[in-house]
Parts: sequence; structure tokens; C-alpha cells
Amino acid sequence: MKKRIFSGAQPTGNLHLGNYLGALKNWVALQDEYESFFCIVNLHAVTLPQDPQVLRQKTLDLARIYLASGIDPEKSTVFIQSDVSEHAELAWILSCTTRMGELERMTQFKDKGKGNAERAGVGLFTYPVLMAADILLYQTHLVPVGQDQKQHLELSRDLAERFNRDFGETFVVPEPFIPPVGARIQSLADPAKKMSKSDENANGAIFLMDDADTIVKKLKKAVTDSGTEIKFDETRPAINNLLTIYQLMTGKTAAECEANFVGKGYGHFKTETAEAVVEFLKPFQERVKNYTDEDLKAILRTGAEKAKTIARETLTDVYGKMGIVGALN
Ligand code: AMP
Ligand code: TRP
Repeated sequence: MKKRIFSGAQPTGNLHLGNYLGALKNWVALQDEYESFFCIVNLHAVTLPQDPQVLRQKTLDLARIYLASGIDPEKSTVFIQSDVSEHAELAWILSCTTRMGELERMTQFKDKGKGNAERAGVGLFTYPVLMAADILLYQTHLVPVGQDQKQHLELSRDLAERFNRDFGETFVVPEPFIPPVGARIQSLADPAKKMSKSDENANGAIFLMDDADTIVKKLKKAVTDSGTEIKFDETRPAINNLLTIYQLMTGKTAAECEANFVGKGYGHFKTETAEAVVEFLKPFQERVKNYTDEDLKAILRTGAEKAKTIARETLTDVYGKMGIVGALN
């Protein structure tokens, strides 16, 4: 039997190159080797305020982006989190075994809650518990994510181990899969920050649906480091980031990338990187147009049915082990 992977992204904002390189690209690469579940985590999205109309639209758009990236619905199960109510149910159970202290240590809560816990939603605080439920319901072995999710993954592992110890072997303890290159793409405007959907600086992120002119403009404006050499060097984060993007867009080795820019200036480097990104995104953006809402809904319905069967099995086991019995069945 194949091992399982599970991952997801939130249907908020616009997906950017970081989302693709840190997550989606690896989902596509792993889907042949693993039995795969890719979820549109709309319940996570509402941990911050969302416009209902926009959330509705972004939910289907994200499915479109998954498929255009190369996720094959014949091989992988693609579904919407809210279609499988077991996610919310297991999240409740796990929230009863999670300690406040464990969640207080989560750096994403501190970032997204802007350090003001008094005003933050409780859902934003318990967000990593819902994420653990997503993963553990499917007896997931591997979770391909970007670097920023590593801490959440560790909590998922701790919760699985704790439950197994207290109630007997129930959950597979998941491992993170964080790619060696691309796990943290930085903002073009501020290389100390990660590229993010909600960057205040409009030039910080390259969105997957950006047109060629916008991409060229953003790369032209990208911050660089002092010096002139175009080499991988952790101490020069701006150039390191641009070179990483260039490498992943072209599929060249690190040495080939460096060799390509020996004796060249930053201007040339940025233009060539922009060209590589535009070339890469062109066929992707064509494919996005291929799916009608009807196509997507059919795929998502089939995905939800398959996911639900597995999720229910795990939840029934959990309830049974805990002595949670109802009167209906
Ligand atoms: P999100 O948009 O927060 O739902 O993230 C979806 C996936 O993209 C997660 O696996 C993140 O770890 C990954 N991701 C988000 N931002 C970046 C980034 N700047 N670099 C690499 N991966 C990222
Ligand atoms: N928290 C992830 C993010 O913001 C999204 C997510 C929710 C996820 N549930 C998950 C990722 C389960 C992997 C597995 O990027």
C-alpha cells in the first residue's frame, strides 16, 4: 500500500510564487509515489475576517490553481475542508488534549494576531489544532509544506503521540516534507520577510496570475544587496532569494545558475529572472482557464466523498476509544 500525503492552502488572497515553490510544486512531484489528499482549507480562512462573496469565489479559484499546477484529480483527492465535517469534530477533540502553553508558543499566532492576544479570535489561537485534525484524520505519513508550517507540524506530531499514548495506537505520526530549496521564498521588497499574500508592499510578491509586465516591473524594483557578484550566499539574502527563484524556474543546478551570471550586472540578472518567471507562468495561466465551475464542482464532490469515508473511519475509532457514544448509532 502507498503511504499517504496531506496538504492544503487557504483560499484567501492570491497565491504567489512562494506558495507554488514551497508547497504546490512538491505536491505535484509527490502525487505519484503517495496516495494524496489536497485540501482547500476554508475553515482556516475564517480565522481572520473574510468577505463572504470573495471567500466563495476564492474557494473555487484555488481548486483551479491546484489543477493548473499539475495536481491530477485521477490520482489525487482534491476537496474542500468544510465538505468533510469530521475536520471540525476532530479539531474539537484534539483541542481538549492540547495545552494552552503549546499554542501560546506558536509564532504564527503571534504574527497574525499582531501580538495582541486580547483582540485576536479564539479560532486564530486554535488554528494549529484544526490543522492537526486535517492531517491526522487521513493517517498521513508525510506533509509537504513550506518552512513557516514546521512548528505547526511539530504540534501535530505531539498531539498524535499523546493521543496514542493515552488511548492506544490510533494515529500515524506525520513527518514534515520541507523542500531543500524554495521552502522560504522571501519578499522582493524586503528580503528579511517571507513572500506573503498580505504583504503591504505591492511589489513584494509575484502572484501566480500576474501578467508579464507586472512581473518585469516587480523584478526590476526588487531590492538587491551591496556588492556585485551573483552567487548563492546566505549573507546576501536579496540576491540569494532572486537566484533561488531563477534556479527553481529554470530547473538549472546552483552551479549552472552562478555560471550563467559570471561577469553580468544586476540589471541583466533581474531581466533574465523575470523572463524565466514569465515563461514558467505562461502555460500555467493558460491552464487555469481550462476549468469551468461545473468541472471543478464535480471533482470536488468526488474528492469530498472519498475523503469523508476515510475521515469518518478515523473519527469513529477516536470516539470509540474515548467512550464517546451517541444514541443514534
Ligand atoms: P497559505 O497560503 O498560508 O495557505 O500557504 C500555503 C502553503 O504555501 C504552505 O505550505 C506554506 O508553507 C507555503 N508558503 C507560504 N508562503 C511561502 C513562502 N514565502 N515561501 C515558501 N513557501 C510558502
Ligand atoms: N496552515 C497551512 C498554511 O497556512 C494550511 C493548512 C491547513 C495545512 N491545514 C493543513 C497544511 C494541513 C498542511 C496540512 O499554509
